[in-house]
Amino acid sequence: MTAYEIIAKKRDGIELKKREIRFFIEEFLKGKIKDYQLSALLMAIYCRGMSDDEIFALTESYIQSGARIDLSGIPGIKVDKHSTGGVGDKVSIILAPLAASLGVPVPMISGRGLGHTGGTLDKLESIPGFRVFGSADSFKKQLAEIGVAMLGQTDSIVPADRKIYALRDVTATVESIPLITASIMSKKIAEGIDALVLDVKYGNGAFMKEIDQARLLAQYLIKVGAAFGKKVVAYLTSMEQPLGKNVGNWLEVAECIDCFHGNGPADLMEVTLTLTAEMLVLAGKAGDHEEALRKCRDALVNGTAFDKFLEMVRYQGGDTGVIESPQTYPLATYRQVVPSPAAGFVQSFDTQAVGLAAVQLGSGRLRAEDAVDPRAGIVVHKKIGDFVEKGEPLFVMHTNNEKVLEPVAGKLLSVIKIGEKKSRVPKLIAERMNRQ
Ligand code: URA
Repeated sequence: MTAYEIIAKKRDGIELKKREIRFFIEEFLKGKIKDYQLSALLMAIYCRGMSDDEIFALTESYIQSGARIDLSGIPGIKVDKHSTGGVGDKVSIILAPLAASLGVPVPMISGRGLGHTGGTLDKLESIPGFRVFGSADSFKKQLAEIGVAMLGQTDSIVPADRKIYALRDVTATVESIPLITASIMSKKIAEGIDALVLDVKYGNGAFMKEIDQARLLAQYLIKVGAAFGKKVVAYLTSMEQPLGKNVGNWLEVAECIDCFHGNGPADLMEVTLTLTAEMLVLAGKAGDHEEALRKCRDALVNGTAFDKFLEMVRYQGGDTGVIESPQTYPLATYRQVVPSPAAGFVQSFDTQAVGLAAVQLGSGRLRAEDAVDPRAGIVVHKKIGDFVEKGEPLFVMHTNNEKVLEPVAGKLLSVIKIGEKKSRVPKLIAERMNRQ
């Protein structure tokens, strides 16, 4: 078996055998297969696709490249949630403590923001002192003691994905459904879950611009989960506009605190409650979706969900003072309104551009090594279907970099369409999918 033969087979559309896929990944990690050869294979996969068996084999090889966390000693059905990424998507920060407060063990390994999408780790790190890294043992200990842990991926979990993702990023091979499936599911399986709720985003602020692509990705994620004995339920949710009001790390944590206190925006609450309720049902903590929704609402109203959030913040070294009194958190030095140039209805957003505008204000990174400003971001004052008067705020920019205020204000005016007609608000939760 040689790398050359395997690349040529895939190039010619011939199905690869499990042992060929395993050989390629193992030899690449040992340095015996070079970056340029793996890049060629990735492009062949991108162009030719993969059969179900090939995707299972690739996922398995990814998992075998590192350690697998064993959570079997922790009682209960361990359920995680994964979102394919969006703008203003802070659901995890509410959902994980909420589900845990109702008895669902939530082992959540999250990522950083890259490109226009935000990352849960960056958001949590905006809480002073909050630690997002720890060993597999400390992850397990925390899960056993308080029922929820939100950490970053350690070096030992699926090292193949980290290396291969970096190559995909520079070879235009990220947007491949087989490669995305293996990348996501290998990490979820290696973290030791029993079940998974997926939020597969579609629309102009998502990876998958079209719902058909999102559905196909969800089908593969569900299939691979089932092949590894995991129950997976997927929701297709819209990213045609930012979720909730705030985009940017601390701004999003502050919005989550509002949600715990019953003051969350309707769209953010709808996605959060739907996904958390699904976790409760998967974990056997509610008989059906309606009962689960009731339990979730009660846990928010009676404060047990917020208490669990505080407990997690404290456990991970974070300052609970700012969580209890968010008004004490220092805001960015520059805060500037972007007023509406005309009266009318908000008809659409270029959501990806909103995410990129927040990055330019300092909230995200365009390269993995960039630092983020926890206080930077955008507050979105009007959403699709809202009426706005001329001069009324559309956005408020938050930044510590005065130089970017003017260019970003100009960009923000071009990312929102205002017209005379009230357009239809895109359906937020389009579909629920599970194994047929
Ligand atoms: N998220 C991942 O973890 N992997 C991908 O390939 C795409 C999104």
